Amino acid sequence: MTRTPVNVTVTGAAGQIGYALLFRIASGQLLGPDTPVKLRLLEIPQGLKAAEGTAMELDDCAFPLLRGIDISDDPNVGFDGANVALLVGARPRTAGMERGDLLEANGGIFGPQGKAINDHAADDIKVLVVGNPANTNALIAQKHAPDVPAERFTAMTRLDHNRALSQLSKRTGVPVSEIRKLTIWGNHSATQYPDIFHAEVAGKNAAETVNDEKWLAEEFIPTVAKRGAAIIAARGASSAASAANAAIDHVHTWVNGTPEGDWTSAGVVSDGSYGVPEGLISSFPVTAVDGRFEVVQGLEINDFSRSRIDASVNELVEERDAVGQLGLI
Ligand code: NAD
Ligand code: LMR
Repeated sequence: MTRTPVNVTVTGAAGQIGYALLFRIASGQLLGPDTPVKLRLLEIPQGLKAAEGTAMELDDCAFPLLRGIDISDDPNVGFDGANVALLVGARPRTAGMERGDLLEANGGIFGPQGKAINDHAADDIKVLVVGNPANTNALIAQKHAPDVPAERFTAMTRLDHNRALSQLSKRTGVPVSEIRKLTIWGNHSATQYPDIFHAEVAGKNAAETVNDEKWLAEEFIPTVAKRGAAIIAARGASSAASAANAAIDHVHTWVNGTPEGDWTSAGVVSDGSYGVPEGLISSFPVTAVDGRFEVVQGLEINDFSRSRIDASVNELVEERDAVGQLGLI
């Protein structure tokens, strides 16, 4: 059976994440081996030539699932008919910069893109914002798309989730495939809270297995939360292949669902669960069911977790207020 191709728009297509992402989408890793894709590469004018070069390379791979590539610097064209939009294009943080410094620089990109999505994307559009500050950029885009259900706008914390899986695996000696129910709460920033109190390592509670609050507070949490900065310091550039991998994971899970007995982490619009103000785009434990993310309900939050979740959520409130004052929402 020939399926209709899914239109996938990638902004920042000529950037380093774009380069690590596009070939995996075209090979079927985003949506599965039976789903043909059409790619829309959206860039700024200075990025068009490099995007053309990437498109030539995509052609040269002769991917059986790739049914076309369009390149544009006009968001109204780039998002036309889009079913999935990966908003990657933004200025990355460089050494010494905090994400807050990026609010103004990148906030201006996401309003017009949100409006273009509102006006031109397909009815089933799913949006993942990768460009930083991802949660607040997603909020800006969502606020400019009043006709699109708010839940279709998400921000990426899957990279943080994967980082936390890997650190916990190293500490316990249990492979990541046997770790479940980890959660990243809050902002994709140094205030994020990787929570292992509900996680399971080879079927046993992770916090009890580790049984070391000093390691948790002084090693695990800061290592995960500051990993982005550590990679910038080591590589001289922000994470790219791991970020692209997490974007693939996020959309693949959103479309295909979470495995039975597990959940993942994603920045989704808060419905007020766990005391996170309604409307903020914050990371939660989520399952994906029938193409929708649902926040896992009913988890007990201890004092250790509560103060950390609150700190990260407060930062999101501050970012929302800051972009409000800048007139970006
Ligand atoms: P990059 O500088 O290599 O590429 C960014 C690309 O975006 C460039 O080609 C640029 O021309 C393009 N661009 C800029 N403004 C645009 C616009 N308005 N429309 C379309 N394209 C535009 O950067 P990168 O390393 O690929 O990182 C991209 C973003 O992803 C950064 O904001 C970075 O901080 C962020 N990031 C997020 C995560 C996460 O976990 N959420 C992880 C890694 C990186
Ligand atoms: C990351 O987490 O690697 C990215 O968000 C880059 C950064 O600025 O930390």
